[in-house]
Amino acid sequence: MDTIIIRGGRRLSGTLPVSGAKNSALTLLPCALLTDEAVTLRNLPRLADIDSFQHLLNQFGVSTAIAGARPEDFGRVMTLQATRLTSTVAPYDLVRKMRASILVLGPMLARAGEATVSLPGGCAIGNRPIDLHLKALEAFGARIELAAGYVRAYAPDGGLPGGEYTFPVVSVGATENALMAAVLARGTSRLHNAAREPEIVDLCQLLVAMGAQIEGIGTSDLTITGVARLHGATYMVMPDRIEAGSYACAAAITGGEVTLTGVRQADMAATVQALTDAGVHVAAVRDGLHIATDGPLRPVTLATAPFPGFATDMQAQLMAMLCLAQGSSVLTETIFENRYMHVPEMNRMGARIETHGRTAIVHGVDRLIGADVMATDLRASMGLVIAGLAAADETRVHRVYHLDRGYERLEEKLALIGADVERVGGD
Ligand code: UD1
Repeated sequence: MDTIIIRGGRRLSGTLPVSGAKNSALTLLPCALLTDEAVTLRNLPRLADIDSFQHLLNQFGVSTAIAGARPEDFGRVMTLQATRLTSTVAPYDLVRKMRASILVLGPMLARAGEATVSLPGGCAIGNRPIDLHLKALEAFGARIELAAGYVRAYAPDGGLPGGEYTFPVVSVGATENALMAAVLARGTSRLHNAAREPEIVDLCQLLVAMGAQIEGIGTSDLTITGVARLHGATYMVMPDRIEAGSYACAAAITGGEVTLTGVRQADMAATVQALTDAGVHVAAVRDGLHIATDGPLRPVTLATAPFPGFATDMQAQLMAMLCLAQGSSVLTETIFENRYMHVPEMNRMGARIETHGRTAIVHGVDRLIGADVMATDLRASMGLVIAGLAAADETRVHRVYHLDRGYERLEEKLALIGADVERVGGD
């Protein structure tokens, strides 16, 4: 397994292109299951998770072709076509690598009338059940069975009738699965308390481009009128707001000045607010955001929340940045119960963070010192990279495969803005 070595203390500056959004891509890809025509996705990030999803879709008989992949380019174009599904089973060995595999359940059920998916694995950030995915599909008329680590879903003859479901808590993935199942239902479906993350809007827009009928896009009440068939479409994956926010924190912790291009600022309001509260200057520029710091960082108090609140996927990166703020920050994690696994690692680098249940108090320190660190999830790993960029001496971030799941060519991008980073083999 590779390790990333960071020699910290360099002020980051320059211009950085933001990639297509991982979490959007992971819900746009399974839309190819909904039609026998070709679906082309542009601006697809080059990530291990995307490769895993591609393999999963290939397993069902979906053909995939990649274009525009010069080695120096970020992103690529993939055309997917599910002319005929040859399997409706997502096996354990593919699903365990990536929790988002569960997102084939809804579209597969809608297209084929049945789907069998291994219960997912993925980041170790808590229990992460899929009960809401299943309840929404049941509300739309699916019959669900759980056996031997697999979920089997069946639609009645003639397809899902559609129905109404109110989510007891906001779930991004369950909203996505329900939407993809409802678009081909025989009747109208309604979702209440649905997630309204920008990635859900992206999904709705692709589905509409394929001929789906969805009202309430961008709100928590969605009405989906099923259509008999969907057609192909070409769609551009939205920019990755979490990647952008991560590099903003990286720039800020080094006292740097970075322009992030290809960003949609409207998706990032909560992150921009948190950075601004911390004393970071954030300005909208053409097609992007300019991040600059000219003084000490200030402490921040916030809680993660579903969109438009502060994203749980930004918590570790913001925490890393706040390690060097002048004063004590208070962060509360309300989405996942086990998302502070980076805390002991940051403390090994000289940070002073206490956790009390779901709340973390980050007492600012004057300096961080490099260390060997490792994290057990993607965003936590990025938090450690950010801490390493500001730390004295060398930080070695192990288990880089987490980062490869979600950050397109991380070390190349960091080098573009002046970081001293190197990837070495072995762990
Ligand atoms: C997605 C994102 C992930 C992000 C998360 C929250 C993808 C591929 N992943 O994950 O990066 O951190 O949204 O913004 O897009 N829950 C249940 N039952 C369910 C489903 C969820 O209880 O059936 C709970 C979860 O345990 C969690 C909360 O609901 O406490 C939110 O999870 P959810 O929004 O579903 O996260 P994911 O879709 O898995």
